[in-house]
Amino acid sequence: MQLLKFITCGSVDDGKSTLIGHMLYDAKLIFADQQRALELDSKVGSADGKIDYALLLDGLMAEREQGITIDVAFRYFSTKNRSFIVADTPGHEEYTRNMAVGASFADLAVILVDASKGLLVQTKRHTRICALMGIRHLVFAINKMDKVDYDSDKFYQIRKDIRVMMADFEYDSLAIIPVSAKKGDNVTKKSANMAWYRGLSLLDHLERIDTEKTEDRNEGFVLPIQRVCRPNQDFRGFEGEVAHGEIKIGDEVEVLPSGQKANVSSILIAGRQEEVTSKGHPSTICLDKEIDISRGCVMVRDFELHTGSEFVADLLWMDEKNLVEGRNYFLKLGTFTCPATVSSINYLVDVNSGEHREAESLSKNSLASCDIMAGAPLVFSEFDTSRKLGSFILIDRITYSTAACGVIRMAKKDQRNLTYHRMDINRNLREEALNQKALTLWFTGLSGAGKSTVANALEARLFALGKHTMLLDGDNVRLGLNKNLGFTEADRSENIRRIAEVSKLLNDAGIMVISSFISPMVSDRRNAHEIIGDSFLEVYISTSLEECERRDVKGLYKKAKSGEISNFTGISSPYEVPEHPDISIDTQDKTVEESVNMIMEKLKETGYI
Ligand code: ADX
Repeated sequence: MQLLKFITCGSVDDGKSTLIGHMLYDAKLIFADQQRALELDSKVGSADGKIDYALLLDGLMAEREQGITIDVAFRYFSTKNRSFIVADTPGHEEYTRNMAVGASFADLAVILVDASKGLLVQTKRHTRICALMGIRHLVFAINKMDKVDYDSDKFYQIRKDIRVMMADFEYDSLAIIPVSAKKGDNVTKKSANMAWYRGLSLLDHLERIDTEKTEDRNEGFVLPIQRVCRPNQDFRGFEGEVAHGEIKIGDEVEVLPSGQKANVSSILIAGRQEEVTSKGHPSTICLDKEIDISRGCVMVRDFELHTGSEFVADLLWMDEKNLVEGRNYFLKLGTFTCPATVSSINYLVDVNSGEHREAESLSKNSLASCDIMAGAPLVFSEFDTSRKLGSFILIDRITYSTAACGVIRMAKKDQRNLTYHRMDINRNLREEALNQKALTLWFTGLSGAGKSTVANALEARLFALGKHTMLLDGDNVRLGLNKNLGFTEADRSENIRRIAEVSKLLNDAGIMVISSFISPMVSDRRNAHEIIGDSFLEVYISTSLEECERRDVKGLYKKAKSGEISNFTGISSPYEVPEHPDISIDTQDKTVEESVNMIMEKLKETGYI
């Protein structure tokens, strides 16, 4: 029998830890000294001198202190019939994230229901998250049957409610077992107290259930490339862990996204030559032809995968900071990482009721269907086809924390059918013709900081030197190209993205660009930098908010303070200070000329003039 990976879901007093503890204890899976420690511990514990099985699992200090489980704990155990890994995760709402992490690895979920309380909203939430993370085998342990005098009617009612609820979900197996974790009824042995129950005990069920997944029945081979290994001229191997199927020497493989084909010429596993490699083995594969392969490419044979950059996914939002449509994140899928945006939130799923609602933003622990647009072509699949290539995480670009995890439901066809054409007259030739090197000077700072004034004087200076320049300025661009954008976070992101694209086009034309926008968010400025590329200098006009308010050239601070303008940067909308600007200028203690001189110095230093 294969290893069974399962997760337990339940809230603080559902008796989750007691249940698992009892299973380990009855199955004689704990060491003698650990058992003794437990007996001693229990004397001071809560279970009236009897062994408190929950103590067995409450490994973490903080858990012991708070009496709740705060993280995912993985435990390993074996019976004579099977080996198990169980993820013990906390169940209350604020820990949804831990539960999703635990569920993402599991093949089966044991969901606890308190017999005296019946199905609760949280049971639905637990079930929904397990379903989202691809768990197809569910066990409902109706616990505390001792508290309801082993009443069969109570159990049948709850069983009926569970079956009704499960009509909303797809699953491969469903077991509903009446237990008492505390007394041990139906945990590892059939209970004499519930003769009316004819099914298996929980442990028996876990030992027998076959969880081989549909995806494993798929014959094809998939290897996401982790590393290209080239120790010398004669050897070029592609390393990664086989995600599906197997491959042998001589087989033809296709490499995505390029679609190039070659035959396997050798296979190494842990430094040894092998004929074949299969799922789960970290392997190095050599091919009989030189083809272009890098990290993030996927080697396949007879397995349908998508290549594209747009898909629909269910996202579980985990960050303290809300999701904003259009904001840029890093997307990590398999071995590939690239920038990506959530291009739209299709609907929010009420985790408790399953209802769909409209939403403009997502807060921590919310679940939603979203359109994702990656900044580069990805190789992926639907989650139902491959868990490995059908799930991903979004990473905050500033803090590098995981902002969301997601599962792919559907590829979106790129209806645009676009291919980038390389033209004969390129940026180099245009720069040569203009006798200059193009760049973008990206000005950022508060409204009224002096960006436009310094940018204007700088352009005049460059113009006088015979340079070909273009100045893009907030108010001006918003009167034309971006007249359909306002000042919400999402609109500001889009404003900056468009300006960055325009700056890039002008740079390609050989022009020196000065872009002057508040651009208040670090992530948007980084995105601009990425679009524009290396020829980018960030100029931070650091004049303080107090000074800007004092100047209030356009009278906007006054209006913002009286509430006449909303989302005003510095007053009712944030400004994130650049951490490492190339130049920082406070216009309060410098004349316009001095400010321009500072920038000219930098341009000399970096070889642009
Ligand atoms: S950004 O935040 O998206 O980069 P941008 O530089 O294009 O802003 O536009 C800022 C200019 O718009 C300000 O100088 C000001 O004149 C005007 N403005 C109008 N409303 C606002 C607002 N709510 N916040 C900031 N600027 C505003």
